[in-house]
Amino acid sequence: MRLDKYACEAIDLTRNEAKKAIKKGCFTVDGEVITNPAFKVTADANVEYLEEQVETVGQRYIMMHKPIDTICSTSDTEAYQSVISLMEIDKPERLHIAGRLDADTTGLVLITDDGKWSHRVTSPNYQCEKLYIVELAEPVLADEQLSMIEKVAVGIDLKSDDKPTLPAKLKFNSPQHCELTIAEGRYHQVKRMFAALGNKVVGLHRAKIGELGLDDELEPCEWRYLTDDEVALF
Ligand code: URA
Repeated sequence: MRLDKYACEAIDLTRNEAKKAIKKGCFTVDGEVITNPAFKVTADANVEYLEEQVETVGQRYIMMHKPIDTICSTSDTEAYQSVISLMEIDKPERLHIAGRLDADTTGLVLITDDGKWSHRVTSPNYQCEKLYIVELAEPVLADEQLSMIEKVAVGIDLKSDDKPTLPAKLKFNSPQHCELTIAEGRYHQVKRMFAALGNKVVGLHRAKIGELGLDDELEPCEWRYLTDDEVALF
C-alpha cells in the first residue's frame, strides 16, 4: 500500500494532509525517513509518525447473522438499528455491506471495507448466487410447484423492470416452504418474484452467498471475521 494511503488509514488524515506530513518528513518506515507519498509500505513494515508506531486496521471481511428488524445501512434510523451499529468494532465508519437485506429479512450478511471484493459479491457481472429460504403466505400444490419452478428457471417479468429476471433455481420443501437461488440482487427481488407468481413472501432468510454458507454457530446479531479461504471465495 502507498504510504499516503497507509497514513490516511492509520491516523485520521485526509490524503492531502497525509501527503504534506510525509513530505515534511514526519514518517519513518523501518527506521528511515520517507518523504515520497507513493513509497510502497510492505505488510510487515514498521511505520512511525512523529516517532510513534502507527498501524492500519487492515482490510476486514466479516459475516453476520442479521436479525429481524435491523437495516443494512451504515447508520440507524428512528425505527431500526443498523447491522453495523450492532457490532462493537473499531472504525465502523469504514465498513459497508456487500449485498443488502430488507429489515424483515434475516440471515447472511457480508460486511467489509474492501470495495473491490464487495463489487465481486454484488455486481451483476459476476452473477454470484444467493440462496434464500422462503416462507410463502399461500400453499402451492404439487402441479403448481412444477409450473413455478419452470417459470423461475426461464426468468420472469417483474413489475416496473424492463428485463426479465435471470434464470433462477427453485426447490419446494413443503407447499409453503421453498429455497430460491438467484444470481442477481435487484430491489426486493425475491418478494417481487413471488408477487409476480401470485403469492406473497411472509418469511425470508439468506442462507448462502456463492459457496459461503451462514455459520450455524452464529446466533442472530453475532458476527465473525471470515477466514482467508472464505475471503478467497470471491
Ligand atoms: N429479496 C428481497 O425481496 N428481500 C431481501 O431482503 C433480499 C432479497
